[in-house]
Amino acid sequence: MLKLVVLISGTGSNLRALLDASADAEFPARVVAIGADRDAEGLALGEEYGVPTFSVPFTAYPDRDAWGDALIAEVARWEPDVVVLSGLMRLVPPAVVDAFSPHLINTHPAYLPEFPGAHGVRDALAAGVTQTGASLIVVDNSVDGGPIIAQERIPVLPGDTESSLHDRIKPVERRLLIQAVLDIANQHLDLKELARS
Ligand code: GRF
Repeated sequence: MLKLVVLISGTGSNLRALLDASADAEFPARVVAIGADRDAEGLALGEEYGVPTFSVPFTAYPDRDAWGDALIAEVARWEPDVVVLSGLMRLVPPAVVDAFSPHLINTHPAYLPEFPGAHGVRDALAAGVTQTGASLIVVDNSVDGGPIIAQERIPVLPGDTESSLHDRIKPVERRLLIQAVLDIANQHLDLKELARS
């Protein structure tokens, strides 16, 4: 069984998809803990699915490095095989990358390297492109520039708003994430090899 720790900042809809997938006895991965950098709405999913949660509030630490060290300690005690950043709206400091990457993966609501950063959906809309996408990457020390595990194109439709477009992107992010978790568990995907190439 592949052990996952999932880190969130928001509602955790991608996390819910993973929890639903894990509810199937045949699924080869389990979410062993859910963590957040704030009092995130998605932490409530822990109670709903019987998964332990923890919070390492960013604002409780003097700087990003101190927060990162506390985060590493909390995550590491679950001995995860893979750490999933699923809507964690913070850049993690280098120590976190060193501790977990390449087994540290991130969903992103754009077709990287297009529109990296915190506003991938808004930036795609502002640029007036006719298609954007969803990506799953290995986290490194760049901003959304790590090796691409999987990605898919999604059209921007006339009249799309940030939320309507994001609502169409998220299901694709979930599908890419679940497939990658399956592939890692079944040894069809080797993150170390991907990060080396
Ligand atoms: C996802 O689009 C994720 O890629 C982005 O934030 C969103 C998280 O949504 N960084 P949710 O919390 O899973 O609903």
